Amino acid sequence: MCGIAGYIGKKEGLETVLEGLKRVEYRGYDSAGVLFFQNGKPVLVKRQGKLANLERVLRGTVTKGKGSTQGINIGTGTIGHTRWATHGMPDEINAHPHHDCKKEIFLVHNGIIENHQELKDKLTKLGHKFRSQTDTEVVVHLLEENLKKIKNFDKTLKKSLREIVGAYAFAIVYTKEPDKIYFARLGSPLVLGLGIEEFYLASDPAELAGKVKKVIYLKDGQAGWISGTDFKLNPVKSKIENLNLTAEQAQKGNFPHFMLKEIFEEPEAIRTAMRGRLFPKKDLVKLGGLESVAQKLKKIEKIEIIACGTSYHAGLLGELLFEEVAGISTKTIEASEYRYRQNAITPNTAHLFISQSGETADTIAALWKANRQKGITLGLVNVVGSTIARETKAGVYNHAGLEIGVASTKAFISQVTILNLIALYLSENKSLKRKLSEELALIPKKIELILKQNRQIKSLAKKYLKFKNFMFIGRKYNYPTAIEGALKLKEISYVHAEGKTAGELKHGPIALIEPNFPTVALVNKNSVYEKMLSNLQEIKARKGKIIAIATSGDKKIAGLADDVIFVPKTLEPLEPLLNIVPLQLFAYHFGTLLGYDVDKPRNLAKSVTVE
Ligand code: M6R
Repeated sequence: MCGIAGYIGKKEGLETVLEGLKRVEYRGYDSAGVLFFQNGKPVLVKRQGKLANLERVLRGTVTKGKGSTQGINIGTGTIGHTRWATHGMPDEINAHPHHDCKKEIFLVHNGIIENHQELKDKLTKLGHKFRSQTDTEVVVHLLEENLKKIKNFDKTLKKSLREIVGAYAFAIVYTKEPDKIYFARLGSPLVLGLGIEEFYLASDPAELAGKVKKVIYLKDGQAGWISGTDFKLNPVKSKIENLNLTAEQAQKGNFPHFMLKEIFEEPEAIRTAMRGRLFPKKDLVKLGGLESVAQKLKKIEKIEIIACGTSYHAGLLGELLFEEVAGISTKTIEASEYRYRQNAITPNTAHLFISQSGETADTIAALWKANRQKGITLGLVNVVGSTIARETKAGVYNHAGLEIGVASTKAFISQVTILNLIALYLSENKSLKRKLSEELALIPKKIELILKQNRQIKSLAKKYLKFKNFMFIGRKYNYPTAIEGALKLKEISYVHAEGKTAGELKHGPIALIEPNFPTVALVNKNSVYEKMLSNLQEIKARKGKIIAIATSGDKKIAGLADDVIFVPKTLEPLEPLLNIVPLQLFAYHFGTLLGYDVDKPRNLAKSVTVE
């Protein structure tokens, strides 16, 4: 949560930082702020609301239009922030950067300072005046207080970090050293971009796409500074890595929203997930990232999948796949629950952590717990170099490319593809393996056919736009898909959408069904098709409207459903990869037709790095 951008070097910092912030606005967008130097003096500008509000005021008062320098100092530190409120209202005072009493130290923060109240009480007694309700402000006053005695900013930062309890990524400008930006990381992501005569700080590598080729993913406990010509890092041991992201990947291209672009990238996301890993003709699945634990995996008797949100829904599909395809008993647990549960420690258990960002606080805490219990920990992560990717013993990367829309779409499809690959990798059932592998290879083409129905799905969304409640139902593999479809609709359209197993409907939820409460039913021709038809009869009997996702060629469904979206025939375990696509498009059009910014839904952030 929250986006950080910092720049120092040969270019003008303000434009560069604003560009960086634009790419991480999805991390938080309730307020934004920047600190830069103009005519030798520090200038702080903050605004409530989206980044565009901040840009508007900067263009009007400071830069007099895009690209105009107006005395902005080159080679001095510029820092910026987009906020997702945790402590205090999303207003201008609570927006970052925060400063000390003398306005000499300016700081942006991502994370949570857990002992902020204790520090605030102590510093207030010493005479410090607090302006905001944030946990962050305490840090600038702590630095100010410690600097009085230590007199050296580098050492002051080190001492202050020892007094802070919590999670943080900091970028700090001390105005007496305008040619430096100090930084520190513990528990919240921060990347150092290494250019030629320029250095960047970013909370997400997406900010650096097309700008630098080399990066250092900071580790927990690292701190240091960047200047226009050099950097210092403590502890020094760090790997300089290549950044393989292009500027195009961080842009919308011809699409009106990232969400739509990312849905249309799904066939490619699946192909990339399978490339060099799935060899249907040789009955072979190669997962290089699992090689180091291959022997241990042969002996596992149980798998626990741990994740949040959409990744958790992918996990539920993984559970069905691991049990059916690999014959391994599997349980999926929400990370926020797992971290506090008194779990039985069982031998030969593998823990699989699924996360697009690799930085979700609950999932990381759950991973630490599993690591402490000495379990085999595996990661299924999209963002390369992220915390979960680094701290699991082994794992598989999605390689789905950047996902910027807050609503996860192509990452889900990619996660489900890789869960299929892992199930095949662990399976000893040769005939099932062959059948599934061959069909999996055909899925991208089948999704392309569904994407051609985009217009028709938009019309359907228009038709149902007046409804405020939706039920989503499915059985077996279609249950996780149903709850994921419901999550998509609620998070970007703000309508109530409930996902249920179709069999559970009659145990309570059916009480809700009436003409104004439509049901989206996943009714493919599979092992539970007839059961689903019975459920639809029950809904019809209560005058409920039905939108069905059904298998092409199904003639029976038209008699029961009010509207049908057909998807190509596939094997039952692979149906989610097809069914989720119309549900994502339905949610997308529903949200945009209602006039919402679906890439930045209210109250949400892409990467939930706080508990
Ligand atoms: O980055 P992660 O996959 O760990 O994120 C988990 C959830 O926060 C995320 O999937 C969230 O539910 C999305 N808003 C879903 O669209």
